[in-house]
Amino acid sequence: MLKAGIIGATGYTGLALISALVSHPDVTVSLITSNTYKGKKISDIFPLLKGRFETILVPTDDDHAGKCDVYFLCLPHGTSMEAAKKLYDGKALIIDLSADFRFEDVDTYEQVYIPHTAKELIPQSIFGLPEIYRHRIKGATLIGNPGCYPTSAILGLYPLLKAGYLAGDIFIDSKSGVSGAGRETKLGSMFCEVSEGFRPYGVGVHRHEPEIQKEVSKFSKLRVMFVPHLLPMNRGILTTMYSRLSQPLKTKDLLALYRKTYDGEPFVRVMDEGVYPDTRFVRFSNYIDIGLKSFDDGRIVIISAIDNLVKGASGQAIQNMNVALGLSETASLTAVPQFP
Ligand SMILES: NC(=O)c1ccc[n+]([C@@H]2O[C@H](COP(=O)([O-])OP(=O)(O)OC[C@H]3O[C@@H](n4cnc5c(N)ncnc54)[C@H](OP(=O)(O)O)[C@@H]3O)[C@@H](O)[C@H]2O)c1
Repeated sequence: MLKAGIIGATGYTGLALISALVSHPDVTVSLITSNTYKGKKISDIFPLLKGRFETILVPTDDDHAGKCDVYFLCLPHGTSMEAAKKLYDGKALIIDLSADFRFEDVDTYEQVYIPHTAKELIPQSIFGLPEIYRHRIKGATLIGNPGCYPTSAILGLYPLLKAGYLAGDIFIDSKSGVSGAGRETKLGSMFCEVSEGFRPYGVGVHRHEPEIQKEVSKFSKLRVMFVPHLLPMNRGILTTMYSRLSQPLKTKDLLALYRKTYDGEPFVRVMDEGVYPDTRFVRFSNYIDIGLKSFDDGRIVIISAIDNLVKGASGQAIQNMNVALGLSETASLTAVPQFP
């Protein structure tokens, strides 16, 4: 069995990783860390793990280099790059769930985030979207796992971008459940601040816009405008994207293009004509569901749904691990979405 370490295991992405990896045929979680809860059993923090996974948390700040074959960094940006510096040896695989290794261009990262203190590792890192970069992920030693919103937007746009069919700026309107903000106590995530309301945030300044833009720019000169919203639900992202086509194309032909582009992809489900994604039907799964509609005058709307903690984070991280290490790509990710 390969040994996995989860650095920062007490957050939502750490829990989602543990929950999926307990059933992985080739990987066992041998290390879980937390500074706040060091010395405690993870099942005392998350009683859902009782009888299934009861490992004791060790301090995140200890030296964990050389202990595992794969490390998942489930830390805030900035903290992650410091952890990566200590762990990277070119042999163990490091998958960072923060933004620290998502940008090939350090200047863009620094404009959007903070000064980068592990610049020397950036050339090693691969942007972990298997549907686009599978060939580069195979054998990688450092993977920047994409953001949740960017996953929903980039995979929703990719077939059209690849085919060169988009001709107008792209307006991306996303709605996320509150777990997207993590488990740490924040005023804006508290029940009374979120329930029975619906609001945009980070308008024009959200850090995921440059992440989406950098991927769109690999295919076209089109500009992206991204507006996220907070929905009073636990998990899920619904992303609605509006643009113009270079030529009028029928919905059924575009759906056929999506099916062809994503042929054989285990986690992409293209909807039938007139059917649109719903966050309820991807919950707790690694699926991205995509639907679309085009209009005679060239307008188009594309809609995608993911679970932010699975395809938007930990599920995608496991998919990346599976690809990078040559394991079955779907191992421990075959759960049917949970409903109701
Ligand atoms: N939530 C999502 O939907 C989502 C989706 C995609 C990507 N991400 C990214 O994934 C990463 C983890 O997100 P999350 O939602 O799991 O966050 P979270 O629930 O807030 O958990 C954060 C974890 O990081 C640890 N931590 C926080 N500050 C630390 C510090 N200064 N030094 C060492 N450890 C520290 C905490 O450990 P202690 O127990 O020691 O406090 C905790 O285990 C973030 O970078 C986030 O942006 C999240």
